[in-house]
Amino acid sequence: MITAKIVGTGSWLPKKTVTNADLEKVLDTSDEWIVSRTGIRQRHVIGEQETVSNMATYAAQRALSMAGIKAQDLDLIVVGTVTGDVEFPAVACLVQGNLGASRAFAYDVRAVCSGFVFALSNALAYHQCGRVKRSLVIGVDALTRTLDWTDRSVAILFGDGAGAAVLVSDEEEGHGVFSTHLRSDGALWDLIYYPGEEGRHPCSGVKLEGGRFLRMCGNKTFKVAVSELANITLEALAANHMGIDEITWVIPHQANRRIIDAVGKRLGMPAEKFLVNIDRVANTSAASIPIMLDEANRQQKFASGDVLLLCAFGSGLAWGAALIRW
Ligand code: ACO
Repeated sequence: MITAKIVGTGSWLPKKTVTNADLEKVLDTSDEWIVSRTGIRQRHVIGEQETVSNMATYAAQRALSMAGIKAQDLDLIVVGTVTGDVEFPAVACLVQGNLGASRAFAYDVRAVCSGFVFALSNALAYHQCGRVKRSLVIGVDALTRTLDWTDRSVAILFGDGAGAAVLVSDEEEGHGVFSTHLRSDGALWDLIYYPGEEGRHPCSGVKLEGGRFLRMCGNKTFKVAVSELANITLEALAANHMGIDEITWVIPHQANRRIIDAVGKRLGMPAEKFLVNIDRVANTSAASIPIMLDEANRQQKFASGDVLLLCAFGSGLAWGAALIRW
């Protein structure tokens, strides 16, 4: 069976940072509350003149440079994002144009915080059926543009950024990205949603009180996230006849440090196996997993043969996992 091996990673964070101390000045909140409830200390925030497609392009250029692959040799670009600067075209097409990846076909996947894992699963399927040999998978978002900065329940949680991975087809059995598992539950769509500029109810179309901002029922989302992230991990392992001890590293979606700790506890996995950067970057939605992947890769954390579990959860609801043998 053909799989897809990650041969390059890259990431990009906007220069501007907003610390908990900055938020304390404008919101009824405290560094102590934010750190103890979420693990977040600061977040990077996209500037007015910066664009989502540029963040994605910078991350992609770093990944291509590490891979030693030219943009013109890419067959596919797939981007997980819900915050393109324009409604269309796809961010993936803008990235393609920026890179000059003229042979590739390019499109976006809208799975919010699970966008990178869904996009990776898409790319893997093209590799497996022989349609592509070299692909670029990106997760990028600027959820800070969807926030009401006076709403302390969400303003503290999010940051912006981009992460990318370059994949090449590989015929070595069980190597590379070898298994992906995706789930959705649209019955729970109203736990996290962004009605958009018009501020309309997603089903009825009626104008919402309180306008256009991201809304989240944090408490309920927390509980579903913990149980489904644990379930999808067990499902991925069972499908591959693997035990929990065979996972070397977990790269979880960075939404809340307490969610990550609770998943580890539920699975009986030591905290040291979970790679976490939420303190510095907060929840960057689709960029969360590939930013952490790139940071750890550049710190040379992964040895050949290590098993990585990526697991994501977010609005949709949509969640998923990917297993990778490095
Ligand atoms: N500072 C101080 N107090 C606050 C803040 C704040 N920033 N925010 C809320 N509070 C208060 C509340 O008003 C409440 O006060 P009360 O008890 O007087 O009513 C109290 O703190 C507790 O509020 P909870 O909402 O119950 O706090 P909780 O411990 O659940 O933490 C949080 C909230 C951090 C949002 C958590 O629920 C969470 O992380 N949820 C999951 C988020 C997630 O996984 N999202 C998925 C991905 S996002 C996406 O897909 C776009």
